Amino acid sequence: MEDNREEDSERRRNFIDMYKFELGFRKSYQEKLETAMEKLEALKKEFKETEDDLKYLTTTRVERIGEIVKPLDKKRFIVKGNDGGRYVVNCCNKVDQSKLVSGTRVTLEKKSLTIMRILPPMVNPLVYNMVYRGDVRYSDLGGLSKQIRDLRDYIELPLTNPEVFQRVGVKLPKGVLLYGPPGTGKTLLARAIASNIDSTFMTVVSSALLSKYLGDSSLLVREMFRYARDHQPCIIFMDEIDAIGRRRGSSEGEVKTSECDRVLIELLSQLDGFNELDKVKVIMATNRPDVLDPALLRPGRIDKKIEIPLPNGDSRMRILKIHASGITKHGDIDYDKVVKLSEGFNGADMRNICTEAGMLAIRAERDYVVPNDFINAVTKLGEAKKLESSAQYNADFRKE
Ligand SMILES: Nc1ncnc2c1ncn2[C@@H]1O[C@H](COP(=O)(O)OP(=O)(O)OP(=O)(O)O)[C@@H](O)[C@H]1O
Ligand SMILES: [Mg+2]
Repeated sequence: MEDNREEDSERRRNFIDMYKFELGFRKSYQEKLETAMEKLEALKKEFKETEDDLKYLTTTRVERIGEIVKPLDKKRFIVKGNDGGRYVVNCCNKVDQSKLVSGTRVTLEKKSLTIMRILPPMVNPLVYNMVYRGDVRYSDLGGLSKQIRDLRDYIELPLTNPEVFQRVGVKLPKGVLLYGPPGTGKTLLARAIASNIDSTFMTVVSSALLSKYLGDSSLLVREMFRYARDHQPCIIFMDEIDAIGRRRGSSEGEVKTSECDRVLIELLSQLDGFNELDKVKVIMATNRPDVLDPALLRPGRIDKKIEIPLPNGDSRMRILKIHASGITKHGDIDYDKVVKLSEGFNGADMRNICTEAGMLAIRAERDYVVPNDFINAVTKLGEAKKLESSAQYNADFRKE
């Protein structure tokens, strides 16, 4: 009797265990089924969309491309066709009407001119090529720490923390001018900022904006700023700004406004065009700040002028060490002496010392540079530099 009861409870426990096991099994299958069903739904949706697209491609032939001029009401829009005509048209249900603002490019059905699809905005390839992705580190710059800090305060901070400015109640700066003698690292500094900021960076040498066709250059400037506004946060770097930013009317005897002036006018109006809240900032660089148009430099357009001076002894030492770091050297290089001999050299000259020292080593059929190479290089370059015409750079420009 006792045995029977024990057997019974044993069997019962076994059954319960089996039941629990089956239950778990079933649960896992249930979960698998659910995910499979979800996948099936997604696939069905994709299939339907593809089928729709195919049907759309085979039945309707989109022949026209248009641009929305103005939305009239929820369903009707004024569009400008590529033939130049303007039409009031309807919009097909599939199109998201909230995206149909003026200026949007759309495709129109051949006969009824119904809006069928939204096209991406057209980007001028010249403007697209301005987008720069660099890899210059701040540590590649020697002795410009104050300038880096200034530039980051005026350019990076408004992009990352605009509320700091709003809290204090000051307007966000729009642009910065880097000026200084040639070869002091203006372009390099802008590149370093570009490589270290998480935003779109467009770089253009200002003379590239000038086109021989009338009006083309202004259009390019306009498109450049439009691209920047569409890709916020964005920084535009205009190098050698004196190419287009010269004081207007400086070309004497010309009655007509030259193309150069027209570009400048467009640039001024574009700088006014975006407001402080737009996350678009402009950096300009020049070694002839004295020839620039005053209108370009006024606060509100270019709020801060940062001077990049000739490097002092300390900075020259840093620049020399940066460029010498990759060179194979034998013996202790007397950097102090090199720096002492390089009075009046700019950053590019300091780099040149390293190149020249390397050349001397190559000429002497060595695989390494010896300390004397550096001394010889710096004396040689120093003599060559005396013959150079002194730069026209006017150091008295607007001391702030
Ligand atoms: N502060 C610096 N630190 C390290 N390298 C420098 C520095 N300044 C200049 N150089 C070197 O000199 C080269 C030329 O500098 P960069 O092109 O930036 O001069 P720039 O100021 O733009 O001159 P320009 O006014 O003629 O355009 C750089 O590629 C870099 O190798
Ligand atoms: Mg430069």
